[in-house]
Amino acid sequence: MKPFFQLSIILLCCTLTAHESLAAPPPHLGTHGSKVPDNGTIFNMSKQLCSGCVGESVEFLFAHNLVRAAKWEPLLFWDFQLQKYARWWASQRKPGCELQHSFPEGDFKLGENIFWGSGSMWRPSDAVSAWADEEKYYDYDTNSCEEGQMCGHYTQIVWKNSRRIGCARVVCDTGDVFITCNYDPPGNYVGERPY
Ligand SMILES: *[C@@H]1O[C@H](CO)[C@@H](O)[C@H](O)[C@H]1NC(C)=O
Ligand SMILES: *[C@@H]1O[C@H](CO)[C@@H](O)[C@H](O)[C@H]1NC(C)=O
Repeated sequence: MKPFFQLSIILLCCTLTAHESLAAPPPHLGTHGSKVPDNGTIFNMSKQLCSGCVGESVEFLFAHNLVRAAKWEPLLFWDFQLQKYARWWASQRKPGCELQHSFPEGDFKLGENIFWGSGSMWRPSDAVSAWADEEKYYDYDTNSCEEGQMCGHYTQIVWKNSRRIGCARVVCDTGDVFITCNYDPPGNYVGERPY
């Protein structure tokens, strides 16, 4: 799938302008300067932060936490309310697979990254990799994105105050894949750095 990656997927995310809410204290990985925990440790921690999870949930969470761990951001918890919301939205998109957000523009109650991929093979980790790949366009020093590119999926994934996540994947009636992830508290506040 790799060579057609850019052609066959579409991503969308959101930007918020409201004020941030307070968040629960996060699980800490350690301190900057020491070695980032290995994948096995992050996988095991993700499983613990996803207790009661079945199916693809751990894959979604692990993929996100790998990206966060690389920036020393606290790992996310899986949240079943968010999962329920994401599943509801995925079920709404199943007939036509339109790449649409669940919130109207300018009125996001949660962070939300969405993904569309041609064909039924796209996994949770494919969507997260596609979002995280935007890191190459993001410039931390100027807190800006390369012109004509998107960075908001990546910055939501590593957003410092986000704590909880829930996602869903559906193979649509068209045979393609729609994936949606919701984040709480939401990230991507205008003028703030993600980490
Ligand atoms: C850890 O996971 C990342 C993302 O899946 C991968 O790129 C990397 O090669 C993995 N590292 C090891 C040591 O397995
Ligand atoms: C992860 O958990 C498994 C099963 O409990 C254990 O065998 C393995 O050593 C753990 N890996 C790490 C890196 O902690």
